Amino acid sequence: MYTSEQLQIFQTATNQFLQSPIEADAFLANLVQLKDLLRFHEYRYYVLNDPLIADFEYDQLFKQLQHFENKHPDQITADSPTQRVGNSLNQSFQTVAHLVPMLSLDNSYNAEDLNDFDRKARELSGIDIISYCIEPKFDGASISLVYENDQLVRAITRGDGVEGEEITNNVKQIRSIPLTARFSQYGISQIEIRGEIIMSKSSFDKYNQLLVSKGDSPLANPRNAASGSLRMKDPKEVALRNLDAFLYHISYFQTIDGKKVEELSSHAGSLQLLWDLGFRSPQKEKRVVQGIQPVIDYCLEFETKRDDLPYEIDGMVVKVNSLAMQETLGMTSHHPRWAIAYKFKARQATTRLRNIEFQVGRTGAVTPVAKLDPVYLGGVTVSSISVHNEEYIREKDFKIGDHVLIERAGDVIPQIVKSLPELRNGTETTILFPKQCPVCKSELFKEESEAVWRCINIECEAQVVEKMIHFVSKDAMDIKSFGEANVRKFYELGYLKDIPGIYNLPYDLIGSMEGFGKKSLDNLQSAIESSKLQPLHRLIYALGIRFVGETTAKTLANAVENIYDFISKDEASLLALEDVGIKVAKSIHQFFQNDQNIEILHQLEALGLQLKNIKKESTGVDSLNGQTFLFTGTLSQLKRSDAEGMVEKSGGKIMSGVSSKLNYLIVGEDAGSKLEKAKRINSIHIISEDEFIALIQQNQA
Ligand code: IVH
Repeated sequence: MYTSEQLQIFQTATNQFLQSPIEADAFLANLVQLKDLLRFHEYRYYVLNDPLIADFEYDQLFKQLQHFENKHPDQITADSPTQRVGNSLNQSFQTVAHLVPMLSLDNSYNAEDLNDFDRKARELSGIDIISYCIEPKFDGASISLVYENDQLVRAITRGDGVEGEEITNNVKQIRSIPLTARFSQYGISQIEIRGEIIMSKSSFDKYNQLLVSKGDSPLANPRNAASGSLRMKDPKEVALRNLDAFLYHISYFQTIDGKKVEELSSHAGSLQLLWDLGFRSPQKEKRVVQGIQPVIDYCLEFETKRDDLPYEIDGMVVKVNSLAMQETLGMTSHHPRWAIAYKFKARQATTRLRNIEFQVGRTGAVTPVAKLDPVYLGGVTVSSISVHNEEYIREKDFKIGDHVLIERAGDVIPQIVKSLPELRNGTETTILFPKQCPVCKSELFKEESEAVWRCINIECEAQVVEKMIHFVSKDAMDIKSFGEANVRKFYELGYLKDIPGIYNLPYDLIGSMEGFGKKSLDNLQSAIESSKLQPLHRLIYALGIRFVGETTAKTLANAVENIYDFISKDEASLLALEDVGIKVAKSIHQFFQNDQNIEILHQLEALGLQLKNIKKESTGVDSLNGQTFLFTGTLSQLKRSDAEGMVEKSGGKIMSGVSSKLNYLIVGEDAGSKLEKAKRINSIHIISEDEFIALIQQNQA
């Protein structure tokens, strides 16, 4: 970033500024220099971790600049180091779209998985030995930064991957993120960079000590601390938390003259470019190797160093180094085929199993939950763990009072690995599974083919409440500000009995409850009202039909004009739908043959909910509904992600490979093995990019 010559100049300048504080007006000529100087010292401190001056001296320089700017406010520029400290109190965050959707990575856990990944990449690319770049997988909160004309203009959280929350003011508090960077040097006018906001282990410990000293509870791990900090209302608070950032991916850029940037032909090149411009990229941590074996070696080597690092990492990320090859490999609907995460081994700890509680879910399934002596495990405190079902408890030979070994792998929910019978002292007791529902006391049943015991009383309080919690939840009807706590509260008070009751709440009574001001009541009411317009697939999912997840709900919604059409569908016609097997078909059929369920649908309809498949009605042409698409080769007019988005908007689905289930293969330049395979299957329409665009337009007409 800085040449040794510049380093000399900056050092001399620093001494000058520190030794002879110049009178404010004389600063004008030095202003740019002083700003550069501060940036230089920030870079030494926050990016290189190698400061050249004392904190106190930095503060002095900073104050000189502040002093000058106070006198000459017209000279304040957005990129001045003083402008990091935001003023906006109580900011609210706008939802903003990423320039390119933020995908997540596929996971691998061992050498075999990595070999598999490499084999697929070699097959798809036709290259024998692939060059890989490996770097740590930082355990923090992901972020995208947009720079335009060298200025940081936006910082957005991951959100749902497509859009996130704009938290620019908060991100400006992170001193390793430059407010300006000379992308123009490379001809770049706009760029989107991905990275991870982290809190170092030491900042995390300090922060937790502070919380505890104030009587607040400590946070579970640095990842939560980082992501929580990013959403704070006051940027000054964020500044106190000492966040840090690693930037590791350029997801989009535009050059002034449309030319390519030579430095950006490999992933390692992007890391270098970011580093050269003053970003903290994993420039030192990364390694470029040929072929998969050295990748495996580096992953294993790094794992042993994990605890010595000043920040948390939960694995390594392996990326195909050539960006051209990355393009060729493309992505599935979930993740790129050119990168994979290698997750480190699970974290383990031992503790005591003190009790088993039995919880009843929305389908009546009774789940045993082990209550444990709280134990700290790789960053979180664990005190209860689901132990699935009776059979599992027998198989694992768990007893109350047992010492147990538990483990937590990254984000995965903790599990009990085994009990340690050798440590028993005879006081341990056998776990008795209840014969009756722990909530409504009705008798429990278990089907022969199943492992779980169920309460089949559909009026069982636990089920009724859990069903409503599911109905309002984010992935179902997404009734914001309703949530589990309100469902439980309203139910206990008798304000809410069943799903239709959600749309018939006694607002006058709720308004007089503690904690319900006019604003929160209005918010709740309008969220409930707008949920009436949710598309049919959300309603189908929200009904909580067994085995019907979000994807199946979409298939079902696309298959009918109106939800009542399901009443007349038999199991065979349900089975004909994609991804619907016997178990699922049976469950859907059963649901729509139940009069009580149909009565609920009638009530919801009368309350104004959307029971029709709107898309089907309005487009008229439904030729793309349920049709499957796959792109191969390089498209010349559309970006791959945009083209895939067009398919989904038109009701079509993207497939990950060529099979007889594929309807359309869109062929770009240099199409390879997929085209060859598709030619052998008669039913696939092989079309060009132009034909694809025409098809989409026709469907929109
Ligand atoms: S690359 C399109 N590199 O891990 C590729 N991700 O599921 C973008 N992460 O969401 C991701 N360290 O938040 C990449 N060196 C690294 C990373 C990294 C951490 C996070 C990121 C992503 C998740 C993967």
